[in-house]
Amino acid sequence: KQRVLTGITTTGTPHLGNYVGAIRPAIAASQDENNQSFYFLADYHALIKCHDPEQVHQSTREIAATWLALGLNTDNVVFYRQSDIVEIPELTWLLTCQTAKGLMNRAHAYKAAVDANRDDGQDSDFGITMGLYSYPVLMAADILMFNANKVPVGKDQIQHIEMARDIAARFNHHYGEHFALPEAVVDDNVAVLQGLDGRKMSKSYGNTIPLFLTEKQLKKHINKIKTNLLEPGEPKDPDTSTVFQIWQAFATPEQTAEMRQAFADGIAWGESKKQLFELINGQIGEARERYNELLANPAQIEVELEKGAEKARAYSAPFLEKLREAVGIRKIR
Ligand code: TYM
Repeated sequence: KQRVLTGITTTGTPHLGNYVGAIRPAIAASQDENNQSFYFLADYHALIKCHDPEQVHQSTREIAATWLALGLNTDNVVFYRQSDIVEIPELTWLLTCQTAKGLMNRAHAYKAAVDANRDDGQDSDFGITMGLYSYPVLMAADILMFNANKVPVGKDQIQHIEMARDIAARFNHHYGEHFALPEAVVDDNVAVLQGLDGRKMSKSYGNTIPLFLTEKQLKKHINKIKTNLLEPGEPKDPDTSTVFQIWQAFATPEQTAEMRQAFADGIAWGESKKQLFELINGQIGEARERYNELLANPAQIEVELEKGAEKARAYSAPFLEKLREAVGIRKIR
């Protein structure tokens, strides 16, 4: 069986981009009998970018409720909270001691922070924590802890998976073949979903459409998607339109062909947005009800996560024992 593993950082409310890019394909992969799936809430990662305890907690609850509401079957999938796996921080340390500092110097997130400081005329390390700097080691520990073969992620995460491979190879070279070398799985058909302003939909840009808004709010958000001004009835270019791009992410190929034609025929923006609302609402309406029920009953979410932690630790605890033995951390005998 192929082990598939992926995580979402618990720093915000799940949006259409997370759904289309990560959650929907992950749930589909979990239904394939050839896969064994591990999906988790990356709450240690959240501390890198968010120092508001309430926000981390609230986001963890919302992301957990989202996976469950969308039909993740926790009998077939190991679904857990990263911080429940006490072996992960320890593995992070074992890996840290095999990670070249030069490798971390090349990480995109760290480099972007250094560049931003230079642009602002600040000292290059201003405001940069060791958490941000060693982020790829923590992520390698997430993946290697469960010997994942396949890691489905968006394009922004590919470098981290490559670093996890490097770290695993170095550890294996030194201590013997303990880790499978993980591979990123990037679905080229699922483009990075655009947000309200046409840039990548992202919490950090404040341009997201949250997945489980009320109908009224969902309509309102869709109406805010940026469009260019055209005369009524003028043909519209689907390939430069965010409305069309989001449509395509939810529609069948037939529906997409119909919308392409409607754009050529000059469909009004208001009408295209109304149809987009109906398409999305039709697909997530039932899950939204389950989501709200789950949020009203957080104890139910906790039960699922505790069940997941138990299943995950059945792998991580004995594996870490083996790794400790391999590096020489042993009982005196
Ligand atoms: P995060 O939380 O930033 O994003 C979670 C997943 O959502 C995808 N995504 C998108 N896909 C399409 N369109 C968008 N607009 C969009 N925005 C986000 C991301 O590519 C990602 O797959 N470090 C990771 C979390 C993590 C992890 C791991 C992942 C921690 N440990 C181990 C895999 C394996 C992160 O910050 O993702």
